[in-house]
Amino acid sequence: SATQRTTNGAGGCPFHAAAESPMAPNGCPVSAQAAAFDPFDSPYQLDPAEALRWSREQEPVFYSPRLGYWVVSRYADIKTIFRDNLTFSPSIALEKITPASREAQAVLERYDYGMNRTLVNEDEPAHMARRRELLEAFTPEALEAHAPMVRRLVREKLDAIVERGRADLVAEMFWEVPLTVALHFLGVPEEDMEQLRRFSVAHTLNTWGRPSPEQQVEVAEGVGKFWQYSGQVLKKMQKQPYGHGWMYDMIEKNRQKPDVVTDNYLHSMMMAIIVAAHETTALATANAFRQLLSRPAVWAELCANPELIPAAAEECLRHSGSVVAWRRIATREVEVGGVTIPEGGKILMVTASANHDPAHFENPDELDIYRDNAVDHLTFGYGSHQCMGKNLGRMEMRIFLEEFTRRLPHLELEEQEFTFLPNTSFRGPEALWVRWDPAQNPERRDPAVRSAQRDFPVGAPEARTIVRRVRVTRAEPEAEGVLGVNLADPAGRDLPAWTSGSHLDVVLPGGEARKYSLCGPPTSGDWQIAVLREEAGRGGSRWVHDTVREGLELRVRGPKNHFRLDETAERYVLIAGGIGITPIIAMADRLKRLGKPFELHYAGRARASMAFVERLERDHGETLRLYPKDEGARLDLASLLAEPDAGTLLYACGPERLLAALEAGTAHWPQGSLHVEHFTAEGALLDPQNEHAFEVELADSELVVEVAADRTLLQTLRAAGVDVPSDCEEGLCGSCQVEVIEGEIDHRDKVLTAAERAGQDRLMSCCSRAKGKKLVLAL
Ligand code: HEM
Ligand code: FES
Repeated sequence: SATQRTTNGAGGCPFHAAAESPMAPNGCPVSAQAAAFDPFDSPYQLDPAEALRWSREQEPVFYSPRLGYWVVSRYADIKTIFRDNLTFSPSIALEKITPASREAQAVLERYDYGMNRTLVNEDEPAHMARRRELLEAFTPEALEAHAPMVRRLVREKLDAIVERGRADLVAEMFWEVPLTVALHFLGVPEEDMEQLRRFSVAHTLNTWGRPSPEQQVEVAEGVGKFWQYSGQVLKKMQKQPYGHGWMYDMIEKNRQKPDVVTDNYLHSMMMAIIVAAHETTALATANAFRQLLSRPAVWAELCANPELIPAAAEECLRHSGSVVAWRRIATREVEVGGVTIPEGGKILMVTASANHDPAHFENPDELDIYRDNAVDHLTFGYGSHQCMGKNLGRMEMRIFLEEFTRRLPHLELEEQEFTFLPNTSFRGPEALWVRWDPAQNPERRDPAVRSAQRDFPVGAPEARTIVRRVRVTRAEPEAEGVLGVNLADPAGRDLPAWTSGSHLDVVLPGGEARKYSLCGPPTSGDWQIAVLREEAGRGGSRWVHDTVREGLELRVRGPKNHFRLDETAERYVLIAGGIGITPIIAMADRLKRLGKPFELHYAGRARASMAFVERLERDHGETLRLYPKDEGARLDLASLLAEPDAGTLLYACGPERLLAALEAGTAHWPQGSLHVEHFTAEGALLDPQNEHAFEVELADSELVVEVAADRTLLQTLRAAGVDVPSDCEEGLCGSCQVEVIEGEIDHRDKVLTAAERAGQDRLMSCCSRAKGKKLVLAL
């Protein structure tokens, strides 16, 4: 394919195909799999993420001749596209993916159909001007006000079936409640709901489906009627200028600024938003119930631990979202994932595939309600067009889950075949049959169950609510002042495997947490930690020593790994001081299994106080050097670190004093040689007296926010509706990292190396701030 290579300006085709294969518009041959790809076939319809596994693995950007689109399947590539809405215009987001037949066209014309730009398919600068005018209805306070209405609607529907024992939840409530909520939110009068549902189906098929020629006409009839209906409702609303709801906000802005919020926009939006605000949520709810109920153990865990509901809903949005693909069009020739997409190239981003990309999500195919970066999913899109209604959708899903887990914890999924409305983008089962034994309804025994309720704050799930219950199976001294604790799943299942360097956050009764490294065998199905009693500490270790006994239930978060072992180095030096041996012993075990050469240096106050000495002597006798101070042994860092070696990585954990000495002692080593684990966050916590406020420009969202002196950047971002994952919130873990485009950074974290800090291109948003008056972030 040498000639193709020269015609392809971006450096060649990333794959080779048979000579007779079709060509893509960039001159590359189309691979057999790309040629066969059809999103209307059953593999994609049943499971779009699975249907694109081959693409994620082998050909992440490909041209689909059947669709006439460039299909993109990896997380990073899709996020790059979402980030840049000038190069990748959203103008085709609502275009008919299957062109209308002449007959269908005639029908649409008869209805004067003129659906055009809304928000989701509007280009800049018109889009942001409009979006900014219309944000008020989505503040947490404004959304909070809708929660009682959602609760009431869900409860009414549940009351109607709770004694019945069997129901199709889609038919009974999953479409109607979100539709009613949407109409309330918009201020649109509730009229013929069945008709609106039929309209929505027609709109979905019209926009993202491949209706047959006969269906085309029928669908066009539905869409035409929907258009007329939207216009009539709009007129009615315009005559009552003092109504409440987001559509009234728009009507008001249309009066004040007709050039920003235009007439056609109003009419188009009226039609599009009824669908956007209800179908997405209805389908997402059905997907979530299907996924959770098909894993009875996970459902049971959620019933026992309703704090997890926001995290579980988010994980369902990642694992099985209701919007699975979204569109952009290239406004110039551009390279994506090594492939040149020509100007005018239409792009289908399969967000469901991105959400299963192992490069971004660990064990992506598993539904893990404890996952702490689920909010990174792309089901709501990303950037300046990101779903404005995401927090309303989340609220509805959570209330559905909260009511059902409380009132019908014994709910079961019936065996059934699921069917889906054939289209590229909106996905959820058309029916969801469940059954339960009404005699077991908890509210029969205790009527208070019916109305007991738990509310969740508006917004992305909070990391600190992602808590797991574990049972202590052993609590015995490991050394003087060190308690070894083994933890197991209360239901007897295996606890997840972990990687060396991982820790748990153990939640204390007051809600505070302490970090303890995992130090047992990594795949044993249970977890082991070792806790040093620190009389002068904040009380966490004393509580563990005084309270933790076999049989006790503990609440933990994690495992999380902020101290990852880079397994690619030639040699390693492991250094532990005192209780800092806990992550280091796990690393030694791992390196031994990998067959990598390493030295292990372990210093302590006295041999009797040093945990795991026997185990270390047994497993790592040859490499182990012990330095018990009471025996006069001393770790001589100066000579250990004298000769820098480019092939060696150092991993250390221990008292801050030891880590500081190591940092100083490796100054002449190559950057990035030393890796340390900090357990305290000195200097990272906010001290409002000594801070100044600063401005932050969010380039992807096209927003400007002010970070007050008494707020962190992370808190400010969240309040503005920008979801950034976080975990420790004290500068230790790296999960809240954001990219910095401009501005001088005042780094407060313990994650970045000196070189990374000097680069001034990223910061930890939970603690770091601006040195000056302003930062520009890639968010
Ligand atoms: C945009 C998904 C619920 C209103 C979007 C986009 C997606 C999406 C994928 C395009 C994002 C992009 O281009 O980056 C969802 C899902 C929902 C949901 C999965 C429920 C689970 C809602 C609700 C509302 C809503 C309840 C209204 C109250 C909007 C609006 C936009 C939008 C107005 C356009 C934003 C813009 O272009 O500036 N949504 N949505 N959505 N959504 Fe949602
Ligand atoms: Fe851990 Fe910010 S959340 S560093």
